[in-house]
Amino acid sequence: FRRLGLRGMKQRLLVVANRLPVSANRRGEDQWSLEISAGGLVSALLGVKDVDAKWIGWAGVNVPDEVGQRALTRALAEKRCIPVFLDEEIVHQYYNGYCNNILWPLFHYLGLPQEDRLATTRNFESQFDAYKRANQMFADVVYQHYQEGDVIWCHDYHLMFLPKCLKDHDNNMKVGWFLHTPFPSSEIYRTLPSRLELLRSVLCADLVGFHTYDYARHFVSACTRILGLEGTPEGVEDQGRLTRVAAFPIGIDSDRFKRALELPAVKRHISELTQRFAGRKVMLGVDRLDMIKGIPQKILAFEKFLEENPAWNDKVVLLQIAVPTRTDVPEYQKLTSQVHEIVGRINGRFGTLTAVPIHHLDRSLDFHALCALYAVTDVALVTSLRDGMNLVSYEYVACQGSKKGVLILSEFAGAAQSLGAGAILVNPWNITEVADSIRHALTMSSDEREKRHRHNYAHVTTHTAQDWAETFVCELNDTVAEAQLRTRQ
Ligand code: G6P
Repeated sequence: FRRLGLRGMKQRLLVVANRLPVSANRRGEDQWSLEISAGGLVSALLGVKDVDAKWIGWAGVNVPDEVGQRALTRALAEKRCIPVFLDEEIVHQYYNGYCNNILWPLFHYLGLPQEDRLATTRNFESQFDAYKRANQMFADVVYQHYQEGDVIWCHDYHLMFLPKCLKDHDNNMKVGWFLHTPFPSSEIYRTLPSRLELLRSVLCADLVGFHTYDYARHFVSACTRILGLEGTPEGVEDQGRLTRVAAFPIGIDSDRFKRALELPAVKRHISELTQRFAGRKVMLGVDRLDMIKGIPQKILAFEKFLEENPAWNDKVVLLQIAVPTRTDVPEYQKLTSQVHEIVGRINGRFGTLTAVPIHHLDRSLDFHALCALYAVTDVALVTSLRDGMNLVSYEYVACQGSKKGVLILSEFAGAAQSLGAGAILVNPWNITEVADSIRHALTMSSDEREKRHRHNYAHVTTHTAQDWAETFVCELNDTVAEAQLRTRQ
């Protein structure tokens, strides 16, 4: 199986994702500064070494002029990145609209937008049209850079129409598609008006991957129920052509976190934080400020805990890092105000002259500050309402080598399948259960903490991002080789 391993191989990998791993800021007519962007996919693929990979994606900015586009293309080339230029209108319709207002909530079981149904239906059609046009623009950039034998790895819900564009252009391209969100039950998926076109396009890929077996199973059911195709243990079959479907759970580059903890700057951060919170237990939440992350529910559970355990008032603090995201989408704007309102109310209710129970930050932290936070905190609360995998839970475990903090983890995050034996699993909708778990975590014996941590640490340090990528690409090579063999026979 490993015979086509990535290490040292000559084969090129073209990673195609909506976002590049860097975001660009314009500093002058032809001057750009580049910064690593946030998100699980970025953090996983940054952990993949030793491959001849190029990354094709949107730079996250509108660059209407040619001078700017040429300068940015040059700057990105140094990072092995290739930009796709999308104008404001298409970003609005494709990214804010179809991707983040329709597919994202639907795939996380929050349903299709419901207010003003007629307007939504009209928008829906123009947004789907923009989605297909945007996918075609990604495909056009792939064609320009493709060389025979390259592996093309398409990522996520933004690019479900891409496999079809690529195969229509050249049926010999080796195409894999991987979804980083859950794939919902077919009963949810079938409400999507464009359900047929998207499934048919994804099936053009040679290999389709998901984080968990359940998501793969839901996808196969959608193909059998909605398209009437045959599902086999290998995948989905359509007129003799097999699309292989399988689960490939992602991981992180755990060594990068372990190494960071040895750096003087991180050690300094750790000792500052330890002094700052001396005498108090510290709980941590790190999430993009997204409705799927269940931040309001988490904060309400913390309030319930404070209410029911007055002895803990002033002895525990929740640090919630809420990284702003998709700020042009109205749902996200509403969520920001809602979270601020709840945090303000709880701090007013339980705060004292010297301390407040919740520290809420609406911004991202740099990597070193984040590692220090992961290392010093006693409990991490990852209580997503749904989450494809959730790598914050992995990152927390990787940084807890000495402290052996407790992970409270939503049973609806993909990570629950791998870290379930070490974490305290919760239903994030059940505020009483989460409040009880907080008490359990804060009062847990060191033996139990040690045992739980050992389990999770072993998993996180052995199932890395590199293994994930290698396994996917090897499987894609094997799938294509087997299909070629079958057609020759
Ligand atoms: C999730 C998605 C990624 C996305 C990331 C950040 O992890 O699966 O594809 O890049 O969120 O979201 P954004 O909309 O800022 O790219």
